[in-house]
Amino acid sequence: MSLRTVLASDLNPVQTNAWLVGSIAPRPIAFASTINEGGLRNLAPFSFFNAFGSNPPMLAFAPNRRGRDGSTKHTYQNVAATEEFVIATVSHRMVQQMNVASAEYEDGVDEFVKSGFTPLPATFVKPALVAESPVQMECKLHQIVELGNGPGSGLMLIGEILCFHVREDVLTNDLPDSRKLDLVGRNGGAMYTRAFGDALFEVAKPAGKPIGYDHLPEVLKRSHLLSGNDLGRLANSAELPDLSVVESHEGDPASADGLEEAIHHALQREDLSEAWRLVGLRSRI
Ligand SMILES: Cc1cc2nc3c(=O)[nH]c(=O)nc-3n(C[C@H](O)[C@H](O)[C@H](O)COP(=O)(O)O)c2cc1C
Repeated sequence: MSLRTVLASDLNPVQTNAWLVGSIAPRPIAFASTINEGGLRNLAPFSFFNAFGSNPPMLAFAPNRRGRDGSTKHTYQNVAATEEFVIATVSHRMVQQMNVASAEYEDGVDEFVKSGFTPLPATFVKPALVAESPVQMECKLHQIVELGNGPGSGLMLIGEILCFHVREDVLTNDLPDSRKLDLVGRNGGAMYTRAFGDALFEVAKPAGKPIGYDHLPEVLKRSHLLSGNDLGRLANSAELPDLSVVESHEGDPASADGLEEAIHHALQREDLSEAWRLVGLRSRI
């Protein structure tokens, strides 16, 4: 496999943006509701967005200077002026209307009206909630971080979260449930990701200090049938079982390849103890 190196200093701001959004993906989407100094509503999506701390609860998103001429966006101007915003999450059923809200409308155009979303009064801030969003957060501005001043430069808005609003139907055990939220993320170009159904999967958190790849039997690391994910799952085991005492069962594969395939399938079923039993048999060949 050959690697290409692209120097950031060889790219113009438009090319850099294409590299950023193509490389850092999928990105969560902040649907930012703000008002201007005159109280007029504004709504626009931003995927340069994430959470950055829980004590106090902080998020940040970046309505950046336009690559075209370095001008600032309404969302930035509104937050700089009023120091308040609501961040709504975007579910799959909202994505087409959200796209309409992302167009460049003139100052004072209410994107709630253009996109057909329903404004609801918030509790602590003046910008409106988005009724259709499954989870949203009321925020007050913590800090503006300017990451340059030329076209395409970053304007990061860091906000402290004052409260969460969540639709009851997306909760499980009183927490937002990824399986019910059906959120979308943004990828490169015009691509989106949907976090739903088979696209969601669980990865067991490392239990304490896992044994690590360096403690796996060498014979497994040379395998052409076991994937990096297979080896990673075994390396995530809390302790290395005693492979010298494993028992063979009737019907166990006899060949090295057959055993490695069986290890792979056991790991796919999340049957870790069976995978290790088969690793023990494989180690004896
Ligand atoms: C899914 C999506 C994500 C976006 N993410 C960003 C972003 O992170 N930063 C940005 O400056 N513009 C982003 N945009 C473009 C803005 O939404 C667009 O410039 C919008 O017109 C800004 O509106 P405003 O002037 O009312 O703030 C994104 C657009 C879409 C559709």
